[in-house]
Amino acid sequence: MIFTVAIDGPAAAGKGTIARDIARRFGLAHLDSGLLYRAVARRALSGEAAEAAAKGLDPSDLSEAGLRTAAVSAEASRVAAIPAVREALIDFQRGFARRDGGAVIDGRDIGTVICPEAEVKLFVTASAEVRAERRWRELGGDGAGQSLADVLDDVHARDRRDMERATSPLVAAPDALELDTSLMSIAEAVEAAAAHVAARLPG
Ligand code: CDP
Repeated sequence: MIFTVAIDGPAAAGKGTIARDIARRFGLAHLDSGLLYRAVARRALSGEAAEAAAKGLDPSDLSEAGLRTAAVSAEASRVAAIPAVREALIDFQRGFARRDGGAVIDGRDIGTVICPEAEVKLFVTASAEVRAERRWRELGGDGAGQSLADVLDDVHARDRRDMERATSPLVAAPDALELDTSLMSIAEAVEAAAAHVAARLPG
């Protein structure tokens, strides 16, 4: 079975949680495409050219330790604006999306650029304030030393870079279901997404 669920949206909107849950529920493979850009960013922060890092990315680069820091998040949205970096990561993501058995991929451009033929597209959003608070809590309840205002500034800066870049900007695919999770619990958001997927699963 070829069946792709593409989940896009801005930072900390709940994509990751929804994607993991959908994958588990329906027995689909899951790829968090943000990890690819984060891994490139981590190598770039150690001095490697971003394009070379993207071309030489290795599965061991995706182990999560150190990939979720504020510095790596900010650098990820910078390297993600480089067309050659995005190009180097396309084939792997396309192959994953269309693998046999079905796949869920979350990111920014999955339903628009990586897999426009995806059987299910979700665009998950929430207000910047709600997203900043979620991210702040995720960072251990004290923002890993950052104030809530700092986290909100980071969210705004990353939104701007992701939406304004020329290559693969963050935008909802015209055929995506938009899910604004500002006033939803994560459990409610997951249920809404799962109902949408269940209605489209073959068989
Ligand atoms: O988890 P969060 O939503 O904060 O970020 P992420 O999904 O891990 O993505 C980190 C950064 O990678 C984003 O700010 C984007 O700039 C970039 N990214 C992208 O450009 N395209 C994707 N498909 C996924 C991530």
